[in-house]
Amino acid sequence: MAYQNVLTENREGILIITINRPDKLNALNGQTLSEIQDVMHDLVKDDSVKAAIITGSGNKAFVAGADISGFQGMDKTSGSKLASVGQNILFLIENCPKPIVAAVNGFALGGGCELAMACHFRLASENAKFGQPEVNLGLIPGYGGTQRLIQLIGKGKAMELLMTADMIGAQEALQLGLVNYVTSSDDLLPKTIELLKKIMGKSPFAISRVIDCVNKYFEPGNDGFRFEYEEFGACCETEDFKEGTAAFLEKRKANFTGK
Ligand code: COA
Repeated sequence: MAYQNVLTENREGILIITINRPDKLNALNGQTLSEIQDVMHDLVKDDSVKAAIITGSGNKAFVAGADISGFQGMDKTSGSKLASVGQNILFLIENCPKPIVAAVNGFALGGGCELAMACHFRLASENAKFGQPEVNLGLIPGYGGTQRLIQLIGKGKAMELLMTADMIGAQEALQLGLVNYVTSSDDLLPKTIELLKKIMGKSPFAISRVIDCVNKYFEPGNDGFRFEYEEFGACCETEDFKEGTAAFLEKRKANFTGK
């Protein structure tokens, strides 16, 4: 399907999703968010897609935030609606049963940082910059930034970044655990693809349960340990489990189907 602000390319099972508004530093307007939503719904159903990468068009920005030009005139009702719609779209990414990785290739600010944080993990190019500058606009993050930043870097540093609106570079993001690797701009996609190919060699069923179990840790009121043992049991019912254990014992590479 062709989109206006999002490019998609299926490269050997990895869907590369490129936010494509480079003249606006890939800022997320309503159209772009709704296209991301459609892409997420489609990729879950599309058996030819095993994993996905989210990145930004051009070499300056991943996503420089929600589109500020749409903010004027917003009131309590429309503001809450905008934020809750955005949060729900990012939940589709966070809870996607297929691995979704952010390849952050420049500014990841506000909604851009939030988009990256909703992915299962992040890689960054050396020129990447992260920040939640909403307080500069008299706002706070609305797409889950106050929650996911704490999860990834801890309360003290999250408070500092959220209150100062300071941007941090890729190396500091690496030290804080916001990103897993920093590469040159040229190596960013190849390194992300390499990691995803490794993951794609494992049982897709088991990978989807890892995503579920890890996410459960952050859902208040859930017993993640109980959820884990139940999901462990569910894995034991799968063809992937039979194949994985048989392949080990027969000293061959497993051929997983996700069933
Ligand atoms: N929303 C709408 N438009 C944006 C945008 C955003 N979040 N971020 C950048 N743009 C637009 C600029 O308005 C400009 O458009 P124009 O050429 O039509 O004037 C274009 O993208 C290029 O941005 P510019 O500011 O000229 O680039 P820069 O290199 O001087 O600065 C940034 C880059 C990222 C520091 C700066 O664009 C910025 O601060 N953006 C807003 C970041 C933000 O507050 N995000 C959170 C929003 S909640």
